[in-house]
Amino acid sequence: MTMKISPSEIIETPREKLSAFGEEVLEGLSAHPRKISSKWFYDERGDELFQRIMAAPEYYLTESERSIFQQQAGAFLEATNGQPFDLVELGAGDGTKTQYLIEHFIDEGVDFRYLPIDISAHALDLISDLVNRRWPALDFHPVEGDYFQALNNLPTAQGPKRLKVVLFPGGNIGNFTPAAAAAFLTRLNLRLSDGDLLITGFDLKKNPVTILAAYNDAGGVTAQFNLNLLHRINRELGGDFDVSAWNHWPTYNPITGATRSFIVANRDQEVRIDALNKSFTFKAWEGIDLEISQKYSLGEIEALAACSGFRFERHLSDDSDYFVNSIWRVA
Ligand code: AVJ
Repeated sequence: MTMKISPSEIIETPREKLSAFGEEVLEGLSAHPRKISSKWFYDERGDELFQRIMAAPEYYLTESERSIFQQQAGAFLEATNGQPFDLVELGAGDGTKTQYLIEHFIDEGVDFRYLPIDISAHALDLISDLVNRRWPALDFHPVEGDYFQALNNLPTAQGPKRLKVVLFPGGNIGNFTPAAAAAFLTRLNLRLSDGDLLITGFDLKKNPVTILAAYNDAGGVTAQFNLNLLHRINRELGGDFDVSAWNHWPTYNPITGATRSFIVANRDQEVRIDALNKSFTFKAWEGIDLEISQKYSLGEIEALAACSGFRFERHLSDDSDYFVNSIWRVA
């Protein structure tokens, strides 16, 4: 027997539900000025390009933080005052830098658990491989999900309540505006208890030449990384962006510390995006705002601690004073 489909059913078939990415692209390209969040940079190709950025000679951030972890692991430990703790890492990435801390804590015979939180199951798999290979006996519990959800669902430990040492590395805080960073850190503060520690990686204000070079490497990897967003729209949303019609344009404002990356249309164009069932018109030299990588002074970091409910303890910086891991305590 054949199914009977009435014509009205065919006509009224709703448009397929948009992905979260689709929703944000629709909203961002319909806004003035146009913008799309840098959180969408990280598809598979974006992850690969970010790995290449971290290996680029101009991108000093990775090496700066790596050297702090390697040379000052003892200072991280001092802050815990000899108490057993949970090392909770937000956005653990591939865990390469954290290795130095873990190695040191194990050498010192410290009682700690390692709880990396990430929304990417792939990132957690990489960390699990590393941990199982290097420290099979480590008390290790990867938690997949949103930071705040995960902080509410940490696996419980035996014995008395442990100190939490929350690590937010990589300068990821920089992808928030200062106001959004304060809101995020305040919300984080509310999930923690008196005496808990937060250690955040901040990239510092420095010679604008050094900063701009980090976001405009001579090998053009950062340009590809930013423009990959247009390729991603083409791939996932059925767009027809001609990516060669767009230029990468990083900027640094030494007053505000905002390092912003834009892409700029180099000619008039119309772009069709099938999943949005819409076309967008771009005028030559119109920009799309993609990313902020906020740079801070030490004083601005200390003010941020205070306004989000933390007591500033100390800054750990690299030899060039390019980057700090700032240690704060829940006041
Ligand atoms: C991963 C947010 C620290 O802003 O420096 C690198 C991302 N963007 N090059 C940064 C990024 C362009 C990076 N963070």
